[in-house]
Amino acid sequence: MYNAGKIIIGLLIFVGLVAFPFVYSGGKATAKPDPKVDTPEILKLAENERKCVEPKAYMKGEHMVLLNDWRDWVVRDDNTIYTATDGKKYTMSLQNTCMKCHSNKKKFCDECHNYTAVKPYCWDCHIVPKEKET
Ligand code: HEC
Ligand code: HEC
Ligand code: HEC
Repeated sequence: MYNAGKIIIGLLIFVGLVAFPFVYSGGKATAKPDPKVDTPEILKLAENERKCVEPKAYMKGEHMVLLNDWRDWVVRDDNTIYTATDGKKYTMSLQNTCMKCHSNKKKFCDECHNYTAVKPYCWDCHIVPKEKET
């Protein structure tokens, strides 16, 4: 015979354990990052021009690779112009290109990085854009 009472208690303990980190952090663990792309520089662009250097899906997954390439091309090959897949040209610069549009580092880069616990060391040397505290 199954012991329904024991099974239910077991289930309750299990659910409790699984939910614990979420409840404990006040629901924070479930809060998905929501990187904001509403900086003045981006809003200045015409609505159909509000795009990243490369398509969003690529940027989302591969921006670190792109940044790495940019650095190598600039520092090793002395090449400073990037031609995007859509033919647009950009100066390859973390500070003057990426961070010009994404001037909201905290609400953008950090929002995701904190969530995934990634800590790029770039800001040891590269200048962080000045932000107004919100
Ligand atoms: C011309 C302004 C501009 C520049 C320059 C730019 N971005 Fe973006 N970026 C955007 C916009 C606008 C979006 C949102 C695109 C969309 O929603 O289709 C975006 C999206 C992204 C995303 C994806 C965000 C998400 O929600 O998934 C990442 C990551 C990103 N950018 C990183 C970078 C990096 C790194 C650089 C420099 C290599 C860079 N961007 C340069 C405007 C820019
Ligand atoms: C949509 C979420 C998201 C946004 C927005 C975002 N990142 Fe990231 N970034 C990630 C994730 C996730 C990783 C870790 C990827 C991995 O480990 O494979 C990462 C890794 C990186 C790395 C490599 C770090 C390392 O130690 O390996 C760099 C550099 C980086 N991001 C720069 C930036 C910059 C600069 C911005 C803002 C312009 C930015 N990212 C915005 C999600 C994001
Ligand atoms: C130890 C200091 C240091 C660290 C840490 C560092 N960089 Fe750099 N980076 C430099 C220097 C110096 C240059 C050369 C600047 C120049 O030629 O104008 C450079 C150039 C670059 C360039 C091309 C030129 C430019 O103005 O942006 C990119 C892109 C870049 N770094 C990305 C990164 C990224 C992404 C990270 C983090 C994963 C990072 N760097 C970490 C020192 C550093």
